[in-house]
Amino acid sequence: MTQYLADSTRHPHASDQPVAATDWWRDAVIYQVYPRSFADGNGDGMGDIPGVRERLPYLRDLGVDAVWLSPFYASPQADAGYDVADYRAIDPMFGTLHDADGLIRDAHRLGLRIIVDLVPNHSSDQHEWFKQALREGPGSPLRQRYHFRPGKGGNGELPPNDWESVFGGPAWTRAADGEWFLHLFAPEQPDFNWEHPAVQDEFRSILRFWLDMGVDGFRIDVAHGLVKADGLPDIGAHEQLKLLGNDVLPFFDQDGVHEVYRSWRRILDEYHGERIAVAEAWTPTVERTANYVRSDELHQAFNFQYLGTKWDAAELREVIDRSLDAMRPVAAPTTWVLSNHDVVRHATRLSADQRTYDVRRARAASLLMLALPGSAYVYQGEELGLPEVTDLPDEVRQDPAFFRAAGQDGFRDGCRVPIPWTAEGGSYGFGSGGSWLPQPASWASLSVEAQTGDPASTLELYRAALRLRRELPGLGAGESVHWQDAPQGVLVFRRPGFVCTVNTTGAPVTLPAPGTVLLSSAPVEVTADGAVLPSDTTVWWAV
Ligand code: GLC
Repeated sequence: MTQYLADSTRHPHASDQPVAATDWWRDAVIYQVYPRSFADGNGDGMGDIPGVRERLPYLRDLGVDAVWLSPFYASPQADAGYDVADYRAIDPMFGTLHDADGLIRDAHRLGLRIIVDLVPNHSSDQHEWFKQALREGPGSPLRQRYHFRPGKGGNGELPPNDWESVFGGPAWTRAADGEWFLHLFAPEQPDFNWEHPAVQDEFRSILRFWLDMGVDGFRIDVAHGLVKADGLPDIGAHEQLKLLGNDVLPFFDQDGVHEVYRSWRRILDEYHGERIAVAEAWTPTVERTANYVRSDELHQAFNFQYLGTKWDAAELREVIDRSLDAMRPVAAPTTWVLSNHDVVRHATRLSADQRTYDVRRARAASLLMLALPGSAYVYQGEELGLPEVTDLPDEVRQDPAFFRAAGQDGFRDGCRVPIPWTAEGGSYGFGSGGSWLPQPASWASLSVEAQTGDPASTLELYRAALRLRRELPGLGAGESVHWQDAPQGVLVFRRPGFVCTVNTTGAPVTLPAPGTVLLSSAPVEVTADGAVLPSDTTVWWAV
């Protein structure tokens, strides 16, 4: 099963030279590494950059084009590194700048690109700017780099407006001197004031710092949040995030953010090698998401509408068409994503019964995603079919959302449990010093070691699918799919030289065989009478 791994033609860019520019990102498969949970190089129970470096050959052999790393910057870790204290330093728990340099070089030698996470909406409360702003007190010009305001009420005891934090509770915290500061996330994550020229200049400089280090791109955290509506107006409603589907909120998806991205695109374009940026932009519609990827803005945006779609043929078809239609006018590639570090893993999320997990559906969903034109994101561990861990004890949880929002279930820790690499060993090969979140015993059989070479495994399914994506270049290219007639609950679409069939129903369906089977998420039976697609199965056919 692994004989193709040595085939260097799969990595045409593998060399010591900088990777050449080829529109690579338009159909790239980009693998998300969550550094604290990927591999632990120094045995302290926490993943780190040396751990990622050691495992780069695994990612090359998996067949991905690029690796996006969640933040590894200096941070007190109030939100697992999405609270950055120094944008130009690596947190000692993850390594050093020297390690980061080595990672970028090693990746390029293997023909892999590196995308780093940039967190521009907010800093850590331990960032030098915020500490100075607090120290200098009300009226200080340094406070203008953040959103400080006097409170309402007789003694300023009420927050300046009614905005709620994404993690629950008010979006404002009162400083000891009586002024309030805005934080759309945890209080340890004060929001920058993006109207301030110093903030704009600082981030242009941070971009250049990492581009000079050789990174191939950025994932822009909360890309929709930077600019707030003038006057910070009240919303007049609770559960504000639920409104996002119907309306543009005064703190999200404001038109002013696009000027920021136009200025960043000019910087990216100054560098050789097609450096890119992908927006984490939660917007009401795919049409508004398309605004982030106009030709003079960012290159890609995550397709969260796709991620949020149920395992239902009609709904999937609709979101696929809508996504492709929305991107066509701006000539940007559509992206596809099923899992990341913020959502319930799709092996669990797509299950009919959310308390169990359904690797069969997850495999079918992954093969569908990888058959679509555009760029696909794979979250570490989904290639192993890992489920969400739903029974973590409260005392090990670290997600700030768990602590802030009464009644919330701390769901983000359950998708962040460290990766099992080997079938044996204290932390299944994650590292020699245990693992910062406990791994279920059942993960021994889901480890990389246990799955490698087993043609029925999810890991080998991903390897085979990614190899075929490279061999059939038409698969990731293009802007549309051609739907064919299909029974209810089944999708059939044609791509150049290729047909994909997806049975989303819980029962087998018989169809005329469209060609010869290339790959299938579950065994498919082809007879003279047709092809029997088992329940919840995707099949790739050569035609
Ligand atoms: C993004 C990140 C998430 C983080 C939040 C605040 O949504 O993906 O993990 O908590 O931004 O930075």
